[in-house]
Amino acid sequence: MKYRILGRTKLKVSEIGCGTWQLANDPGCWVGSDLDESLRCLHRFAELGGNFIDTAWIYGFSDKNPSSHPSEELIGKFLEESGKRNKLVIATKVPPKNMKWPAPKGVPISKVFPNEHIERCVNDSLKSLGVDAIDLVQFHVWQDYFSKEDSWKETIQRLTDEGKVRFWGISINDYQPTNCINTLDTGLISTVQCIFNIFHQKPAGKLFEYARKNDIGLIARVPLDEGGLSGKFTQKTKFQKGDLRRSYFRGPRLKELVERTNKLSKLLGKEARTLPELALRYILSFDEISTAIPGMRRLQHVESNVSVSDGRRLSPKLMKKLKKHSWERNFYR
Ligand SMILES: NC(=O)c1ccc[n+]([C@@H]2O[C@H](COP(=O)([O-])OP(=O)(O)OC[C@H]3O[C@@H](n4cnc5c(N)ncnc54)[C@H](OP(=O)(O)O)[C@@H]3O)[C@@H](O)[C@H]2O)c1
Repeated sequence: MKYRILGRTKLKVSEIGCGTWQLANDPGCWVGSDLDESLRCLHRFAELGGNFIDTAWIYGFSDKNPSSHPSEELIGKFLEESGKRNKLVIATKVPPKNMKWPAPKGVPISKVFPNEHIERCVNDSLKSLGVDAIDLVQFHVWQDYFSKEDSWKETIQRLTDEGKVRFWGISINDYQPTNCINTLDTGLISTVQCIFNIFHQKPAGKLFEYARKNDIGLIARVPLDEGGLSGKFTQKTKFQKGDLRRSYFRGPRLKELVERTNKLSKLLGKEARTLPELALRYILSFDEISTAIPGMRRLQHVESNVSVSDGRRLSPKLMKKLKKHSWERNFYR
């Protein structure tokens, strides 16, 4: 495993991080997780040198048991069993109080991140993870005009001073890579998590340029387009009820995905032998990225994804070809 510096936090993080949205299932989004295998995934990831784990207060949340935070709790169990807390960088997220993803334009911050809500969620996450301090807490949605408000700034400063949180980040709204730039100018935010993959290349413009100049750590989420870029789906694939991909790849979308991944497969060869490898190498070929965080709940995925981190980058020639495979759209709608 190779490591990179997470922007101004100066934390050393594994190039392949562990995404955990699906780790403990997630009502309406992820089904079919085997919690024993999920736990073994975390152990294997750390054994292979992985040290960056991305979770969220909301992952696995159900109204039926609102005090439980299943993904964080499973990570907490892993931290306790492994005794590796000090070797790992744990990132979680504060959900919007109104539970709306993404943050709608015009919504006031009082409905999204009021002070007592930020503090309550951080306290919940500390408890679920079983840690004294969280390395990185990210706002789980954002609107850049929140930068004009002062209350959240005072709250995060206080939680940092109290030693509960080391650094703060923003996990920006889907496909809105610049909806955070004024906020980054406050100097209070160390990292940005954004969708970045072969299909959604837009962040490589203004956001990457800003991050490079201002030492912002970039975390690439949805690196495999929810599994679409792995090439494992065919036109016959049927997603289970409760799997977000049933809607994400609905109707003609699946056919178009398969046509596009078939075209991408033609680029496989010495530089990348499989599509997941190509997708992850594409991301890691950008210096601005600190870590790519594929969602991993299967042991085989942990092993193959981690093996991509060997320091080899794609050639400029192949990167140029991949530029033509961008496919900008929003399938979450
Ligand atoms: N708003 C936000 O802040 C936000 C939103 C989305 C995601 N995230 C974070 O980013 C992480 C990554 O995004 P994501 O999990 O949604 O999407 P992703 O990483 O693009 O796709 C994850 C899925 O791809 C499949 N996969 C992973 N490795 C594979 C491999 N080597 N070969 C074949 N298939 C493979 C798995 O499907 P199966 O499990 O079905 O086999 C896995 O569940 C999340 O886990 C979460 O931590 C944050």
